[in-house]
Amino acid sequence: MYNNILTEIDLGIGIITLNRPERHNAFDDVLIGELSAAIEQMATDPGVRVLVISSTGKSFCAGADLNWMKRAASYSTAENLHDSRVLAEMLRRLAQCPKPTVARVQGAAYGGGVGLVACCDVAIGTFDVQFSLTEVKLGLVPAVISPHVIAAIGERYARRYMLTAERFSAAEAYRIGLLHELVTDVEALDEAVGEIVDALLNNGPFALAACKELISAVAWKPLSSEVVEDTALRITRMRASPEGREGMSAFLEKRKPNWIAQG
Ligand code: COA
Repeated sequence: MYNNILTEIDLGIGIITLNRPERHNAFDDVLIGELSAAIEQMATDPGVRVLVISSTGKSFCAGADLNWMKRAASYSTAENLHDSRVLAEMLRRLAQCPKPTVARVQGAAYGGGVGLVACCDVAIGTFDVQFSLTEVKLGLVPAVISPHVIAAIGERYARRYMLTAERFSAAEAYRIGLLHELVTDVEALDEAVGEIVDALLNNGPFALAACKELISAVAWKPLSSEVVEDTALRITRMRASPEGREGMSAFLEKRKPNWIAQG
C-alpha cells in the first residue's frame, strides 16, 4: 500500500518504518504523504495503543529531500506554500497523535529527521547516532520543525545548534533532552524500546490521550487561575470516567485493570 514506509500492527503496537534507505530516508512529497496517512491510520485505529517510528538503512532520516525542496523553489508561491504546509501538518499530526509515540533512532538524523525525533513523546537512540540541524548551511531555515525542536531542547540549545548547523553526538542529544535514553547498539535499542512500549501498554489508553492533551495545554503557560481551573476540570473528568473508575477500582481490589491482558 505504501512505497516508502512499512507499517505493522501487532499486539497493540503500531510501527511505522521509514524505508527509503537509498536516500537516507529523506522525505519528499511521497514519503511525507505516506507518513501523514499512516500516522492518521495509527492514530484512529483502536487496535493501536502505542506508535513506534523506526527506520531502515544507515540513517534514521536525512531530513527533507533536497531535490524535492529545490523543485518546490521553482513552483508558484501558492504551490510552494502548499508543500510546506503538508510537511508542517505531518509533523503536527505526529506531535499531537493521541497515542504515545516512541522514536527508535539509529543512524544519522539531520534537519527534518531531528524534527521527527522531537515530535515523538519518547526518543531512544544508539551511541553512534549523529544529529545536525543543517538548514542554514543550505541557505534555509529549520522552520516547520522549530516548534517541535525548541519544545524538546529549549531555546538555548536551539540557538546554538540551529545557528551553527554543527554535528552533535547522541551523548549531546541525550544531555540536551532530545534523546531520553542512550544504548550501545541496535539489539539494546530494541530492548529499550520494548521496555518503554511495555510501560506504556500498562497505562489507560484514554488516560494517555488525556495526558498528552494535558501536557500541551499546560506546558509553557504561566500558572494563571485559568490554567489551575483547567487542571481541576481535567482530573474531575478523568476520575469520573469509566477508565478512571476502572483503574482506581482495580488498584483497590488488587487486580489488573481491564486494559491489561488478564492472566
Ligand atoms: N535529500 C536528497 N538526497 C539525499 C539527502 C537529502 N536530504 N540526504 C542524502 N541524500 C542522497 C545523496 O545525495 C546521495 O545520492 P546519490 O547516491 O545520488 O549521490 C545518497 O543519498 C547517499 O548519500 P551520501 O551523501 O552519498 O551518503 P553518506 O553516507 O556519505 O552521507 C548523509 C549521508 C545523510 C550524512 C549525507 O547524505 C547528508 O549530509 N545529507 C544531507 C542531510 C541534510 O542536510 N538534511 C537536511 C535537509 S533540510
